Amino acid sequence: MTEIERRRTFAIISHPDAGKTTLTEKFLLFGGQIQVAGAVKSNKIRKTATSDWMDIEKQRGISVSTSVMEFDYEGYKVNILDTPGHQDFAEDTYRTLTAVDSAIIVVDSAKGVETQTRKLMEVCRMRNTPVIIFINKMDREGRDPFDLLDELEEELQINVRPLSWPINQGARFKGVFNIYENQLQLFTPDKQRVTEKVEVNVNSDELNGHIGDQDAQKLRDDLELVDGVYPEFDVNTYREGRVAPVFFGSALNNFGVQELLNCFVEIAPSPKPTMAEEREVQPTEPKFTGFIFKITANIDPNHRSCIAFCKICSGKFERNQPYRHVRLDKTLRFSSPTQFMAQRKSTIDEAYPGDIIGLPDNGIFKIGDTLTEGELLHFRGLPSFSPEMFKYIENDDPMKAKQLNKGIEQLMDEGVAQLFVNQFNGRKIIGTVGQLQFEVIEYRLQNEYNAKCRWEPVHLHKACWIESDDPKELENFKKRKYQYMAKDREGRDVFLADSGYVLSMAQQDFEHIKFHFTSEF
Ligand code: G4P
Repeated sequence: MTEIERRRTFAIISHPDAGKTTLTEKFLLFGGQIQVAGAVKSNKIRKTATSDWMDIEKQRGISVSTSVMEFDYEGYKVNILDTPGHQDFAEDTYRTLTAVDSAIIVVDSAKGVETQTRKLMEVCRMRNTPVIIFINKMDREGRDPFDLLDELEEELQINVRPLSWPINQGARFKGVFNIYENQLQLFTPDKQRVTEKVEVNVNSDELNGHIGDQDAQKLRDDLELVDGVYPEFDVNTYREGRVAPVFFGSALNNFGVQELLNCFVEIAPSPKPTMAEEREVQPTEPKFTGFIFKITANIDPNHRSCIAFCKICSGKFERNQPYRHVRLDKTLRFSSPTQFMAQRKSTIDEAYPGDIIGLPDNGIFKIGDTLTEGELLHFRGLPSFSPEMFKYIENDDPMKAKQLNKGIEQLMDEGVAQLFVNQFNGRKIIGTVGQLQFEVIEYRLQNEYNAKCRWEPVHLHKACWIESDDPKELENFKKRKYQYMAKDREGRDVFLADSGYVLSMAQQDFEHIKFHFTSEF
């Protein structure tokens, strides 16, 4: 119980450039995992870091894969799941969100809600994941805080409750009043060290002494308005994913970050029950269960090893114990499970619910695989979303057809992209959310599997999973659309619509067929 209670497993998510990496780094600083600010950032581009395993990311300075960083803070064990910064890898981020118990969303105070923020919030909403919002870059000229809050509510479709309040912004930014702790924190731009905070009562004259009469009055007025407009913060409503507490600060200047972290460890949920197809699994159950949510290949290019990331849902995981790989119905023992620190990974003997462990993988795991002590369980993953870009993948080296197929299989197992096989011509179609993913696939096929692929255009609008209670109509539809029918990797029927018009006509003509835009329905 104690081990479960003290765990906080979460992801920091944002639209690129809002400050996710900077905030993560500051958290690690507080967690004592790194000593100087700038370590993570410089690693992001140059050196090998935990969050940047693949060559391609090093070249481009984009964080492609997801990794885990853990540290102890004030008696809590904090697990941060890092997510790729580039939006072309959004799917990877969505999947990571299946393994977290809560999330912190970083929003740029000048830009407000951006496309990626909206999508990520949608995924959090699907799973009722509680979120805290951090409005970053208050040291820059940004938007009016009340306007920002309105926008958050409207665009993210969630109620918000500010737990801190800024005193001006940009060049005139003086600090924030921490509503949650009832303290004033004065802003001193300092990128490396932790800022001091001043304890003052908001109604005292001392406040005027610190920030001047005008700003003190404005702050009192603002706080009154905040209290008038927003219902009092209720931790259970937050944990149910129905209200998002909002903090203001500047990650770069390390301002408002520790307050965010303090409040986060206090209010964020410890590991929650996990839904399996068969039943709900409680973290407190004595028997170990877990699922794979992420596979990363070739951390060390000299050893062709993959690492499967397993989220522990219940019980205690122990090294060298026999566990059942449910899909393969095989008993496996893991002699070198690893955990992750900011700059390294180390072998562990045991792990608890909420923890993420790395299991060496030589092709035995797929995303979504469940491990148990014997029980037949299937944890529900996140559905695949209809991709946004499609291309035919062809073999460009006839001698390497086998390697190519193996490479495609494994990359799809990792969830790099989605594969559909056209039932009419047997050609393979790769679907992604962004152009960069095609480049990653091509690069990795060549570097890891020694295979060469070629892309050919295919004009498609959407891939939708179809089903119907009326088998006749389904058959009829498949016959009529045979050129556009494909199977996904699980053998499900997928309709490849080449335009929005074709799709809406199909929806009109076949009333009894349901068209789904995610693979889970
Ligand atoms: P991301 O992971 O969400 O993509 O964002 P990241 O942390 O990399 O931050 C994006 C840019 O925003 C960086 O600048 C970073 O320094 C800056 N930034 C982050 N927090 C703050 C803040 O509180 N105030 C201000 N003014 N800027 C902030 P860059 O120019 O892209 O990188 P660098 O040259 O500074 O390293």
